[in-house]
Amino acid sequence: MVWQDSARRYNSTTMPRIPDETVQQVLGATDIVELIASYGLDLKRAGGDFKTHCPFHNEKTPSFNVSPGRQSYRCFGCGEGGNAVGFVMAYENLPFPEALRKLAARSNITIEEGEYDPQEDRRRRRLSRLKLLHNQAARFMHSLLLEDPGAEHARKYLKSRGYDREMAGRWAIGWMPRNTDVFLDWARDAGFTGKELLHSGITKLREENNPRSGLWVRFGDRLMFPIHNERDDVIAFSGRKLREEQGGGKYINSPETPIFKKSNVFFGLHKAIRHMRDYAVLCEGQLDVIACHEAGVKNAVATQGTACTNEHARLLKRYTGSDKVVICYDSDFAGHDAAAKAFLEMAALGMDVRVATMPPGEDPDSLVKSRGPDEFRSILEKSSEFFDYRLRYLGEENNLDDPGTKARVARDLSPMLHAVSDKNAQEASINFVATRLGLSPDGIRQAVVDAAKRPSRRRDQKDDPIIVESTPVDRELGVLAALALQSHEVLDFLCDQTEQVLIGAEGREGEALLRNILSTRPNVPNPAAVNTFLQSLSAGDRATLLTLLEEPTPAAPLTAATEILGILAEQGILQELGALAARLKSPELGDDDSKTIMERITELQRIRSEAKSP
Ligand code: UTP
Ligand code: MN
Repeated sequence: MVWQDSARRYNSTTMPRIPDETVQQVLGATDIVELIASYGLDLKRAGGDFKTHCPFHNEKTPSFNVSPGRQSYRCFGCGEGGNAVGFVMAYENLPFPEALRKLAARSNITIEEGEYDPQEDRRRRRLSRLKLLHNQAARFMHSLLLEDPGAEHARKYLKSRGYDREMAGRWAIGWMPRNTDVFLDWARDAGFTGKELLHSGITKLREENNPRSGLWVRFGDRLMFPIHNERDDVIAFSGRKLREEQGGGKYINSPETPIFKKSNVFFGLHKAIRHMRDYAVLCEGQLDVIACHEAGVKNAVATQGTACTNEHARLLKRYTGSDKVVICYDSDFAGHDAAAKAFLEMAALGMDVRVATMPPGEDPDSLVKSRGPDEFRSILEKSSEFFDYRLRYLGEENNLDDPGTKARVARDLSPMLHAVSDKNAQEASINFVATRLGLSPDGIRQAVVDAAKRPSRRRDQKDDPIIVESTPVDRELGVLAALALQSHEVLDFLCDQTEQVLIGAEGREGEALLRNILSTRPNVPNPAAVNTFLQSLSAGDRATLLTLLEEPTPAAPLTAATEILGILAEQGILQELGALAARLKSPELGDDDSKTIMERITELQRIRSEAKSP
């Protein structure tokens, strides 16, 4: 006995082993229905599952069941069952590693077998503890959402967004209690250490670098969306605000941790991965992904709290057998800008990028709710080739018959044409753009060559420094400017309150920029109008605004703008009043001067009292 035991231990530690991650990756990339069908078994749909005659025993009526949802098979006649690897082992009579290798080869995954390494083993154990914590926390918070008396407002909010219990269950949505001690107590009872809670990013130290300051939970009183990796482990959370007056952004995401790297995570990938063979749908937010899946568009994913990175593009290329992606972003300025960036990344990898244009002001989540899943799917089906979409978008606010505009549009498109790495596709796109603009293909080709000489917007190449320096602007003015370009109400409001704006902006960096927005008064939030306005600015101002526009928009832009303007105007008025008071004391002051000053003081006091009474 002793012999056998130690022999087994010896074996398990020195035999090359296939890492668990690889096994999961292979399973994740395999669709069991397709696999079994590829062996020539005639699968017939039966509800959500498939049925056929069992290949492992003789039978007259089919009792062999394949479940795409569980990715497993079972024969109710002979009891044989398992996952995809199990099927290959049983059907081909192969040992586990060989069966796995076969499946890996089908999905172009290489299996590297590592030697046993104690350090590596510890690392892997730490990672799996972090995943365990996330999985259990998600389950705990889900049950709180469904049952806790304190979560009534969260349930109401979820319902107002069209989610029922089942839907909340399918996405494991939860609630982090307002009293976060409830969560900390649960975690300790479940056996997780303070260190593990810190490493998970769910908590941080109350005071940086002071381990005695205690744990602070990031997501108090938020609706919790678990973020999964492609193998179905929860690896992070995104928490949505439930109350207007709550601090922090609309969404708070987990920070990067050993199991969560924003640049390679997609929300919804665990569900979408089996449906992306033909193409993938790339959305902007997690609620959009959920809306897509619930509307039957099961190949939808979204990047999580970042723009589409080069790594994201690589992953999409790997997961979609066809390299085809349909971008389905919000139809606001930020959405069009993000679509252009995502295109640059994907086109560089030779991918085929289409864009589905949402009606103004809609995103997939709102559209499915307002017009129904059928209409949403038909918009997806009508997606356009990228340059077709971009020209239509630029044509909305620009007269494409005007020669100057044509040249500007050609310049706008040239970096995107340049990014297309497939030479045939690039040639076709150049010809398409030339025809649409009524310019010669040679002219466009020249613009593309020139674009290659200009610094590109992609920042991932180290030898490609960002040449355009952003113009510095005062934080408050910058935020006001960005809000004015995103919300037509804010712009109207600021135009109505010119007096306050001028006083509040006086002498601050960004004053000219804000004045420019108010005097131009572009047709906000029409994205093409905003784009035209941005194009009219200096490169520095444009860079500044683009950065500001990438920040999350507050839920109530007008309230935010009113508050900021109130503070700015108050500061401006106080400053001017102080200066005037100092001048009044000056001995050389003439009567006329002091009269003018007194008038100005009265005026400032009037503006101040008006600003205070809305
Ligand atoms: P959106 O503001 O478009 O979110 O941001 P949404 O999906 O429409 O959300 P609702 O409908 O208002 O609830 C898109 C994505 O950007 C990230 C989130 O991942 C979000 O899903 N985001 C947004 C943040 O990370 N933080 C924020 O404060 C806002
Ligand atoms: Mn939304």
